[in-house]
Amino acid sequence: MKKSKYIIGFLFSLLMTIIIAQGCSSAKQIVEAKSGAQLWAENCIRCHNGPSPTEFNDEQWKTIGLHMQDRANLTKMETDKIVEFLKSAN
Ligand code: HEC
Repeated sequence: MKKSKYIIGFLFSLLMTIIIAQGCSSAKQIVEAKSGAQLWAENCIRCHNGPSPTEFNDEQWKTIGLHMQDRANLTKMETDKIVEFLKSAN
């Protein structure tokens, strides 16, 4: 009787671990599948008008990317993709 309780508890925590791990990796996969342009359009217009890629040069975008990574709470992967897009489009 007691033993089965432990087994159920163990299986439950195992299941939760799998669900949580899956959630995290799928969120990462979604970001991986998105283009920099898409991430830029989704993230950079939340607080101000989305800046046009032509407004700044490559060096400036690098600095702005780091600044806005902080402001917008983006991951490094998201920021890198957005900065790559902005640098390729200016
Ligand atoms: C959470 C709000 C927020 C988000 C999201 C955001 N920004 Fe900003 N942004 C600001 C604020 C506030 C400023 C004013 C400057 C400051 O931060 O002091 C600013 C300023 C800027 C400027 C002016 C130059 C500078 O560095 O001050 C640029 C360009 C810019 N943002 C680009 C972006 C890009 C590109 C993204 C998407 C990755 C983005 N922003 C996402 C809040 C945000």
